[in-house]
Amino acid sequence: MSQGKSILCVGNTVIDFVTISQSYPKEDTDRRCLDGFWQRGGNASNVCTVLRALGSKVDFFGMLSKSVAFRALIEDLRKREIGTNHCPETEKDPPFSSIILAQDSGTRTIIHCNKNYPEPTFEDFSKIDLSQYGWVHFEARNPKEVSKMIQSIREHNKKTSQKITISLDFETRYDQNLELCQPCDIVVFSKELAAQKGWESARETVEGLAADISGNGEKPVIICPWGSQGAVCLDATGDFHNIAAYKPEKIVDTLGAGDTFMAGLIYASFVDQRCLTDAMDFANWVAGHKISDYGYDHITKIIETSSRKLPTNL
Ligand code: FRU
Repeated sequence: MSQGKSILCVGNTVIDFVTISQSYPKEDTDRRCLDGFWQRGGNASNVCTVLRALGSKVDFFGMLSKSVAFRALIEDLRKREIGTNHCPETEKDPPFSSIILAQDSGTRTIIHCNKNYPEPTFEDFSKIDLSQYGWVHFEARNPKEVSKMIQSIREHNKKTSQKITISLDFETRYDQNLELCQPCDIVVFSKELAAQKGWESARETVEGLAADISGNGEKPVIICPWGSQGAVCLDATGDFHNIAAYKPEKIVDTLGAGDTFMAGLIYASFVDQRCLTDAMDFANWVAGHKISDYGYDHITKIIETSSRKLPTNL
């Protein structure tokens, strides 16, 4: 396995304050937690973390901050060798999330505070030499600027035989971000957003999204991870597949499980050149392992110790 070109992940990096509680707290009570920690979070930022844990070359592109609070995030990016060249900087404090992990139910509850943090512009993005990347992954946000970024990759692809694959993580603001889907190669849609749309199953979700994506003929591959039920997709020819989940013995930390799935999918598709359904199976496997322990560092261990680097059970 060799990785020629690098991967670029575009989106947010935030501070996650994680509280581990026996159960989800009752409102207006005063209680002690079991433990807690903070870590660098944010969807694209987590995808970078997991891609590095899997051994990929990866860069992050998003708004960095000069604030004291952000220094720890920069240090963590450096320590993990996640490239940040070309990231714009602001003086503003970074976004943060307050997260409760409830041990009895295995849930993670996120309250995110964005504080109108500035977003990178297409002008910032246009300074990047795209020829160093083989895959660019976007968070669905900031559609005005991100659609221009995606379009510039499509233009780049017209001029080269070494095409960049474009993926999109679609988790929020359906109506605003829908336009970002059509020009991408792969869209991963979240179960939570499906619930907001009133879609009750993974199949209804991928078919509902496919019907809403306009455009003449060309549609992206649409994937929807559905927790313990596994992940489904509509492939490039519109065929439906359902790939089973891997359940760990104990669910410890589900924070970032979706981002881990995304990173596993990119790694298996791009670095290991697997077909779509094999890549989804690998993504399920890494996500299943991620939730068996806190944070992301233990992901490195499965790759180092597993005799079965990629799934064989399809
Ligand atoms: C997990 C996550 C957290 C972050 C939140 C942002 O998917 O990226 O790390 O706090 O979502 O919405």
